[in-house]
Amino acid sequence: MTNSPERRPIGIALNGVTGRMGYRQHLVRSLLAIRADGGLPLADGTVLWPEPVLVGRNEAKLADIAGRHGLTDWTTDLHATLARDDVEIYFDALTTQHREKAVAAAIEAGKHIYSEKPVAADLAGAMTLVRAADQAGVKVGVVADKIFLPGLQKLKRLVDSGFFGKVLSVRGEFGYWVFEGDWQPAQRPSWNYRAADGGGMVLDMFPHWHYVLEHLFGPVTAVQCVTRTHIPRRFDEEGIEYLATAEDAAYAIFELPGGVIAQFNSSWAVRVFRDELVEFQVDGTHGSAVAGLRHCRAQARTATPRPVWDPDLPAGTDQRGDWSTVPDNTVFENGFRVQWERFLRHVVAGEPFPWDLRAAARGVQLAELALVAASEGRRVEIPGLP
Ligand SMILES: NC(=O)c1ccc[n+]([C@@H]2O[C@H](COP(=O)([O-])OP(=O)(O)OC[C@H]3O[C@@H](n4cnc5c(N)ncnc54)[C@H](O)[C@@H]3O)[C@@H](O)[C@H]2O)c1
Repeated sequence: MTNSPERRPIGIALNGVTGRMGYRQHLVRSLLAIRADGGLPLADGTVLWPEPVLVGRNEAKLADIAGRHGLTDWTTDLHATLARDDVEIYFDALTTQHREKAVAAAIEAGKHIYSEKPVAADLAGAMTLVRAADQAGVKVGVVADKIFLPGLQKLKRLVDSGFFGKVLSVRGEFGYWVFEGDWQPAQRPSWNYRAADGGGMVLDMFPHWHYVLEHLFGPVTAVQCVTRTHIPRRFDEEGIEYLATAEDAAYAIFELPGGVIAQFNSSWAVRVFRDELVEFQVDGTHGSAVAGLRHCRAQARTATPRPVWDPDLPAGTDQRGDWSTVPDNTVFENGFRVQWERFLRHVVAGEPFPWDLRAAARGVQLAELALVAASEGRRVEIPGLP
């Protein structure tokens, strides 16, 4: 007969758990999914058991979520939660605008931090958190979920194999139509379209593009950007019309080491004629690939057809047919859960975790300098952080 492994509970305060990301991806798809599978096994044989403490402003919403998932620990008192010894980690999925203050309070209380991106609304705020966390000696991880998308993992495999030869350029196409909220409800929160509430495409998506590019090709060294608010008026969750003060589209050129150019279109005012809501095309001397959320297709130099420009002839070539599918070769788990598991092992077992606060601050820096580039109409170089 074998002894059942020792279970080590770890208290995690989840703030913002009534929101889209906090509830679905972090509570349900990550922490509760880990519990449903019996906990997180560690190398020393113990099993880590997440104990969520739901934190928020609305008692009824918290009680409803807790009741739905058999949880009992919920509160509207963040400070009392941060004073609890059994709470070791503070997780933040608040709206961007409110993150810095809450994370700073948790650092001061000596909690390890796991946070949604962007970790702060500007670089100064992010660096304040970096210094505070260093001083307190707490561990900080920030969500970098796109790296764990199956499509991007396959793209990374191609990069690591040398498939591309010399990488020349990257094109990112991200976006979809976000309904204005009048004749159909909007599918994103209204704060996303108000600058004063921390909204805007650049602050929302450029931290993602930063870690994706850094992970695949190296740090972004310079940025040019044009932003637009294509839809100037929208309707909020209560059906009330409001002025969209934040940009809903950003058209950027990022410079990368080795002369690589990455050109990204990001828009909530575009209709999708693509296979997936985001696609990255990488062109290199020896091959090209197009990766989306799940799929990745590649065309090697040796399999490249000879295109000939002749508008007088009907298009006779099945361009997509000449690309091959990059196989999965593994089972891909939910990326948010994979990153949670790595962060938990980082906290309790000291395993490495590269997506730390400094990495997140570089993402905020890219967003901030892209907005400078946009407002001043110029190319901005990205200096290294202290
Ligand atoms: N990693 C990703 O792919 C991804 C995707 C979307 C959003 N996000 C990030 O996640 C965060 C949350 O986004 P969301 O779409 O879930 O937003 P949301 O509006 O659905 O949820 C926000 C949460 O913050 C809480 N909140 C709002 N105002 C508050 C206040 N004044 N005081 C305390 N709590 C308050 C809300 O009650 C809710 O729980 C944002 O920072 C966003 O950038 C990340």
